[in-house]
Amino acid sequence: MTILQAGDHVVAAGALYGGSVTLLAVNLKKFGITTTFVDATQPDAFAAAMRPNTRAVFAESLGNPSLVVLDIAAIAAVAHAHGVPLVIDNTVPSPFLCNPIALGADIVVHSATKYLAGHGTTLGGVVVESGRYSKDGRDGFAWDNGKFPGMTEPSDGYHGVKWYETFGDFGFTMRCRMETLRVYGAALSPSSAWQILQGVETLPLRMERHCSNALAVANFLQAHPAVAWVNYPGLASHPQHALLQRQMRGASGLLAFGVKGGVKGGVAGGVKFIESAQFMSHLVNIGDTRTLISHPASTTHRQLDAAQQLAAGVKPDMVRISVGLEHIDDILWDIDQALAAASA
Ligand SMILES: Cc1ncc(COP(=O)(O)O)c(C=O)c1O
Repeated sequence: MTILQAGDHVVAAGALYGGSVTLLAVNLKKFGITTTFVDATQPDAFAAAMRPNTRAVFAESLGNPSLVVLDIAAIAAVAHAHGVPLVIDNTVPSPFLCNPIALGADIVVHSATKYLAGHGTTLGGVVVESGRYSKDGRDGFAWDNGKFPGMTEPSDGYHGVKWYETFGDFGFTMRCRMETLRVYGAALSPSSAWQILQGVETLPLRMERHCSNALAVANFLQAHPAVAWVNYPGLASHPQHALLQRQMRGASGLLAFGVKGGVKGGVAGGVKFIESAQFMSHLVNIGDTRTLISHPASTTHRQLDAAQQLAAGVKPDMVRISVGLEHIDDILWDIDQALAAASA
């Protein structure tokens, strides 16, 4: 909302968190801002969707729940060639596993509700700007390239200040605080800020354990006869594994898999798996210390028809797990017994 105004256009990855899709496709559309969604695995698709009025490219470094790994450097090159910033939602890997700015991103956002706070206790978000701007736009993105009058012309909302001229490498941050947060009210409460800061202190330790537990779960599921498929980019067999290794320290704690579901099939199997879990919680949050499971086809995406569900990357048998920090033996025990119940 800081960058965009009526008449502007966004190119976004199709494989995004559902709330972000709604924001772009429904809410911002009401303000005259349109979005073209493209295949996040195809940098050429981003390039083909760019228009003269495109003002931002938006994508997730690791998609939720698609787990698509974004080629950040390639997409940054597309955005910069068109003189617009690349905005990355880095919620799923967290800053510990991935640094999108080092790979070319200009602005990074996080839902701090997830791994940053880490314990499912608070809501919050973070916006980070790279502060790395090309003065003439020749080797990267520049706010003063003529496409962003809101950054270069006097602000009607704040004493005529020129954000980029006055604040330079933190001009976007200042505009975000003084024009957007102040007016729309998405300000963090002190107690939420405290909980997020306390979470950040243990982020590296938790992420290492989330990654090692999730890899063990993925390996276990891959070898399990009741499992139809596993999607975890940390597996060497995943088509984007090499890209993940180039960009990230680990594949995070999120994975998805399909339940064969015995004679009743995948949807019933997915539901039964969820109902049979003993200590894994049936919750649609991610990034908690506790292992959380959900069956999107019968819950979050239930209102969509089968074709719409598939377009959103939700297969009928798909179970999503946000692998927590419990002992791996306990997690595998619960998954194993729930799979046995689901395939009975
Ligand atoms: C990738 C991603 N981005 C953003 C959000 C939104 O987070 P919040 O509820 O903290 O606004 C979520 C929530 O699930 C998410 O998974």
